Amino acid sequence: MSSIEIEGGHRLYGEVQVQGSKNATLPIMAAALLNSGISILKNYPDIEDVRQMKLLLESLGCRIILEDDQMIIDSQPAAETVLEQDVTGKIRASSVLLGPMLARFHHVKIAQPGGCRIGKRPLDIHMNVFKAFGASWSMDENFIEVECTRLHPAQIRMSKRSVGATENAIMTAAYIKGRSRIFNGAVEPEIIALCDYLKAAGTFIQIDDDNTITVEGRECSHASIDIPGDRIVAGTYMGAVTACGGRLKLSGVRLQDCRGFLNVFAGMGMQLKNDGIEAVTITMDGRPSAINMVETEPYPGFPTDMQSIVMACAAMASGRTVIKEKIFDNRLGAAVQLNRMNANIHVRDNTACINGVERLKGAAVMAQDLRGAAALLIAAMSAEGVTYLNNTEYLDRGYVDLCGTFNRLGARIHEK
Ligand code: UD1
Repeated sequence: MSSIEIEGGHRLYGEVQVQGSKNATLPIMAAALLNSGISILKNYPDIEDVRQMKLLLESLGCRIILEDDQMIIDSQPAAETVLEQDVTGKIRASSVLLGPMLARFHHVKIAQPGGCRIGKRPLDIHMNVFKAFGASWSMDENFIEVECTRLHPAQIRMSKRSVGATENAIMTAAYIKGRSRIFNGAVEPEIIALCDYLKAAGTFIQIDDDNTITVEGRECSHASIDIPGDRIVAGTYMGAVTACGGRLKLSGVRLQDCRGFLNVFAGMGMQLKNDGIEAVTITMDGRPSAINMVETEPYPGFPTDMQSIVMACAAMASGRTVIKEKIFDNRLGAAVQLNRMNANIHVRDNTACINGVERLKGAAVMAQDLRGAAALLIAAMSAEGVTYLNNTEYLDRGYVDLCGTFNRLGARIHEK
């Protein structure tokens, strides 16, 4: 367990180049299995989840070279179809290997995926996807196994817009000759990035306004992709400025990808100036204002991954904010920790009622998931006094040197 000490009360000034998107990189790495050529991922983020996915691919037999900010994947030698718990246990995204492995090897057996504990995370929609393509599956508390003799194109209606299940459906369909359709699919920017990679490799993909995704499998060959900036990382810096005050220039992020939460930070008082292509300056003076109601939704709505960060800002806002978590059933855990820092948050079922206090105060707190850890760090940077934040290894899963970057911008964070 690693921990840090944060001396709060310092404003943030400077420039940040936003890292490549975690949730785009992970499925694209998985999709590289479908490619008989070489895949080049430029601007990949060097974070723990990506390192874990690299280990997973290498244990299947892939050869991976890291060169500056490029990851070069040769999946030709991959042959292994079983992944044990010691390799899948650490990241949830190991589930996106199911589709590509099934498509390529017709058999996959992987230990139950790990990842953040943010509520029940069933895989029933994924399994319905594989069944629709002609596969059969079995699952127990340890393993998931999916197999088929041959796969055929399918018309699939998603009961829920699951990001991972949509990615598995697209990747499986990309390996099947013929036209498949996914209705009510998720269309997060990270899924668009996955589609951009597959299109660059030769797959036909069309996404309609009504969330229908048409995929026609074709032979995949060499492909190169620039991983887009991580909108949740950009949102983390926006949350930090909203809470601490100051001015930051963020580069390398597409503002349209952030639209689900820009209005929330703007409502809290953050000012935003567009500085051209993929660059923006954000400024905050004074205490944030509360916003009445925030509800998490699939894209383009307010993302669940920003929920705890906005909660930290609302905890010190003038007035009362209500946050409703509608995607995951146990993702309001940061509230208990924020209350240790003098916040006044009541949680009932999946709703948090946050009565903003004048100042948060330093305390000993414990991170329980990746974005919750970022939220507590932001709260601590804005608080009066010193905070001890435990379980900071969660931050390494999704952020490239977050504490070092904040220190460069004016924060006082010490590794213990
Ligand atoms: C992805 C993101 C995660 C983000 C989430 C929602 C990655 C690596 N992770 O996770 O950061 O918070 O999308 O935007 O991209 N569900 C089912 N059955 C299924 C699958 C999902 O009931 O078979 C439910 C989940 O329990 C959850 C909801 O659907 O309540 C959304 O989950 P999903 O979109 O699948 O999340 P992930 O792909 O795991």
